[in-house]
Amino acid sequence: MRHLLSTRDLPREDAIRLLDIAEDMADVQDREVKKLPTLRGKTVVNLFFEDSTRTRISFEAAAKRLSADVINFSAKGSSVSKGESLKDTAQTLQAMGADAVVIRHGSSGAPQTLATSGWIDAGIVNAGDGTHEHPTQALLDAFTMRRRLHGTASRGKDLDGVSVAIVGDIVHSRVARSNVWLLRTLGAHVTLVAPPTLLPVDVSGWPATVGYDLDAAIAAGPDVVMMLRIQAERMNAAFFPNTREYSRRWGLDEERLGRLRADSIVMHPGPMNRGLEISAAAADSPRSTVREQVANGVSVRMAALYLLLSGANTEQVRPGGVR
Ligand code: NCD
Repeated sequence: MRHLLSTRDLPREDAIRLLDIAEDMADVQDREVKKLPTLRGKTVVNLFFEDSTRTRISFEAAAKRLSADVINFSAKGSSVSKGESLKDTAQTLQAMGADAVVIRHGSSGAPQTLATSGWIDAGIVNAGDGTHEHPTQALLDAFTMRRRLHGTASRGKDLDGVSVAIVGDIVHSRVARSNVWLLRTLGAHVTLVAPPTLLPVDVSGWPATVGYDLDAAIAAGPDVVMMLRIQAERMNAAFFPNTREYSRRWGLDEERLGRLRADSIVMHPGPMNRGLEISAAAADSPRSTVREQVANGVSVRMAALYLLLSGANTEQVRPGGVR
């Protein structure tokens, strides 16, 4: 794997392989010494043009646990705020010998530009571009679903027949897009649930069913309910009457939580607006995978960096020692 830019064109076998390697990486996380020497001497740059807490520290932890050197570059306080272009930034990173660049950018397509521009030789990982994609989030979500559904016997498995309701601010969500494509590839059925104003204008090309009624979606008994954050920072107009009305109709409150199937799980990529799209009762319930998602994110990102940088693309990771 040269770059990880999207899930839309990620082949099924590559996705399963990445998830399986993430299982091996998760085994390493359970050891007393959580570090592997695999990427010693490699340099990973975290290039973040948008705010992030968990994704940035997750990539940092992943790179460090593989013994890579990590450089954190945030646009604020850098020459980017002086108007330096993406090209000049990329060429600076190239001159510093970056082997991988993990990029988060407000513009959809920025990681693709870096990967195809010829400005830099590094492997590029998309850590969220505009409203386009966030592939490692979808992969960690799939990993979390697979583990909850198949337990320790999840290696090699996909998500065939699993039903997933993705609820909330779909139109602004790169997480929703990456999930829709990956879940399709892995055999799951996706229902998008949102007010019409928070759905993209044309979802006819999306491999998903669309609904406007959260209660109807819950009555259908999905295996997974994935709540999305209301992305107020991307809204320049009113997308719903007010927050009370939104949470009354599309929020996962305690009462709706009680109507979910006993074995279904509740996911949220974070950061959460508690009391808006998700109640504290739902976020903190035993069904919630929110903290597992964060922990699994490190394993999945270790797997992604390993596949990009180890040069061992045909080998499997052995829990006893990654070669
Ligand atoms: C998501 C993102 O940045 O796209 N968060 C994340 O990566 N954990 C979703 C969001 O911001 O709501």
